[in-house]
Amino acid sequence: MFNGASHAASTAVYPGSFDPLTMGHLDVIERAAAIFPHVLVAVVVNPQKREPLFTLEERKQMIRAATKHCGNVEVTDFRGLLAGFVKQIGAGVIVKGLRVVSDFENEMSTALMNRSLSGVDTVFLPSDPRYSFISSSLVKEVFFLGGEIEHYVPEPVLAVMRAKRDIRRPTGEPTS
Ligand code: PNS
Repeated sequence: MFNGASHAASTAVYPGSFDPLTMGHLDVIERAAAIFPHVLVAVVVNPQKREPLFTLEERKQMIRAATKHCGNVEVTDFRGLLAGFVKQIGAGVIVKGLRVVSDFENEMSTALMNRSLSGVDTVFLPSDPRYSFISSSLVKEVFFLGGEIEHYVPEPVLAVMRAKRDIRRPTGEPTS
């Protein structure tokens, strides 16, 4: 868990499951890093949707590798309420990406609840149209059914996914 009491209001927290990081996530991180002095990517320990494919350490390592060119990006994890976490570290803002209009419906009430609980506002960045159809769950489904995903995830993620697939694949099974 992050213990960064030194990070003040200049910190923008970008929370998510990142199971795994996609090109859409990376684009939001890079754009947030150009706006805010410090971006803290906060990986939720236990995603609410389902058991993650990647361990917490794998998810954090993949993000660190993919963002190593960004000097003001750090990666941490949090468990429980996001509002409690942003309050604890004194974050200035929460960043969320919006891909499609339906994202907005959930994100709006979540943002208002988070502000009510913590006093911290949420800033939305619209997804780049090149990435608006990409989600972690679609990427996993396509990949494990044999589809090509190199345009949808950063290189370090692709490497970890290939390794995971090789572990899963029984010996002797053809590679394509
Ligand atoms: O990448 P995801 O799965 O869309 O990220 C969702 C995440 C982690 C941002 C969201 O589930 C979250 O904030 N979880 C923490 C629990 C919480 O604070 N719930 C109340 C929301 S008002």
